Amino acid sequence: METDVSWTGTGIDLDRPNAARMYDYYLGGAFNFAADRHLAEQALQVMPWMREAVAANRSFLGRAVRHCVEQGIRQFLDLGSGIPTVGNVHEIAQAAEPSCRVAYVDNEPVAVAHSSHLLADDPQTTITQADLRDPEQVLAAPTVREVIDFAEPVALLAVAVLHFVPEERRPEEILAGYRQTMAPGSRLVISHVTADHDPEQARAASRVYQRADTPVLPRSRERLTAMLTGFTLLAPGLVDATEWHGVLNADAEHAGFYAAVASVD
Ligand SMILES: C[S@@+](CC[C@H](N)C(=O)[O-])C[C@H]1O[C@@H](n2cnc3c(N)ncnc32)[C@H](O)[C@@H]1O
Repeated sequence: METDVSWTGTGIDLDRPNAARMYDYYLGGAFNFAADRHLAEQALQVMPWMREAVAANRSFLGRAVRHCVEQGIRQFLDLGSGIPTVGNVHEIAQAAEPSCRVAYVDNEPVAVAHSSHLLADDPQTTITQADLRDPEQVLAAPTVREVIDFAEPVALLAVAVLHFVPEERRPEEILAGYRQTMAPGSRLVISHVTADHDPEQARAASRVYQRADTPVLPRSRERLTAMLTGFTLLAPGLVDATEWHGVLNADAEHAGFYAAVASVD
């Protein structure tokens, strides 16, 4: 049965697969279309453990959010927040501390439409449709400013998203654009696809994603470490997502995602 798309608004090319909706498909969500499912199935053929990898990434996201709340962070700016699914950032954060506020940002219309619907009754959360590669625009958005006070520490989440930013867009400059507005004690939570463990398989999966409107660029540990210059990596450092504070997803030998939490000093 096809998903009813009438609520999604305009601006979606249903024939063009998109990473946000493919990710939703891996997670068992209903907010994806035939073209997304078709390409996701091709990705699953070259990387059969993709679903476990994505689950390991979500598991890391949950642990990192709880960790930030334990460290006293009460506000989250979630870049590339995705289509809402089980264990959304505001649900995890507010379960740990009800006063937590979350500004979600995504540039994909289905993610934005579904987030708006979900968050309509929660004054502590907002969704902004914007391109994270433009920090000035994101940081100035009234919907971001409504819930984030940059005089206080904030957790900037860039989880499973910077691999959609090509080198020519200078990802470290983008991160620096956010960092300069973040108060000392703030956190950066990052996860990122890598080809370090299985270069051939990662290359094959990247080739599949070339056919989406969101190509993926895996990065090495070395490259990611350089990208995090200006932030202080916190223990256990830049590790496989399954290893960040405990292996919670024993199904995956490695997630194929590097993960880290870093601080702004
Ligand atoms: C793989 S999903 C990750 C979702 C969530 N962060 C997680 O880890 O579960 C990546 C999300 O980033 C969004 N995205 C990709 N490029 C973006 C950009 N330039 N600006 C804003 N969002 C972007 C996609 O639309 C998608 O929803």
